[in-house]
Amino acid sequence: MIDLHMHILPEMDDGARDMEMALAMARQAVDCGTAVIAATPHKNIPGMIDYKWGDRYRMQMNELRKCIAKEHLPLTLIEGMEIFMTEDVPEKLNDGELICLGNTRTPLIEFAFHTEGNVMARSLERLCREGYVPMLAHPERYMCVMEDPQLVFEWYQMGVIIQMNKGSILGRFGNRVRKTAAQLLRHRLIAVVASDAHGAFVRTPDMTELEYALDGEYGPNCFELLLEINPARILEGKKVIWDDPVPFSSFF
Ligand SMILES: [Fe+2]
Repeated sequence: MIDLHMHILPEMDDGARDMEMALAMARQAVDCGTAVIAATPHKNIPGMIDYKWGDRYRMQMNELRKCIAKEHLPLTLIEGMEIFMTEDVPEKLNDGELICLGNTRTPLIEFAFHTEGNVMARSLERLCREGYVPMLAHPERYMCVMEDPQLVFEWYQMGVIIQMNKGSILGRFGNRVRKTAAQLLRHRLIAVVASDAHGAFVRTPDMTELEYALDGEYGPNCFELLLEINPARILEGKKVIWDDPVPFSSFF
């Protein structure tokens, strides 16, 4: 499996609190069959200015890679960040101040949970116009999507890659998020599922429960498509594979 959204780098954000926890997360990921992790700490949150962030990011990546090699864990760490969307994100990506996943043109983008749908659409459209293929983190957790899941269909049509969180499918963010997640999956609007893991005890990298939850409900190849095939295609710069979305005129 390939997990494209994980807060595994220690002491960077509200994810792994130290190297020991980061390693525990790495072991959990390997135990459930994950071979590649994108280390995606929060970045660009307004008010959080840290001029040494880039240095610290590289240092923690190197340290964690060394520890993983020392334990002989069959795990590859790739670079990334979960970018909080602001007006200047396209410029910051163009300048290299913000980075995409691996060597791709795909930035992982998040919004404030109360952002309006038309504001999200405008920002995502702008990134697409600038030649990026944004991956939107956990739409099922945004207020506007819970109220109107059809918004995701518009973003899908724009070419945005839609990434859902493991915890949303399993009901870890409450019933409303779980129901929204199920709607989006039924309508075939999800290209990728990732752990968005923040630790080794809650919101973990363990994906074992998901195979049954996805394949049992949404078809026999759903798990493989969303956790292996599409994440691999993204890292290769290829288009993700979508099942034909179920139109919202037959919304259920
Ligand atoms: Fe995240």
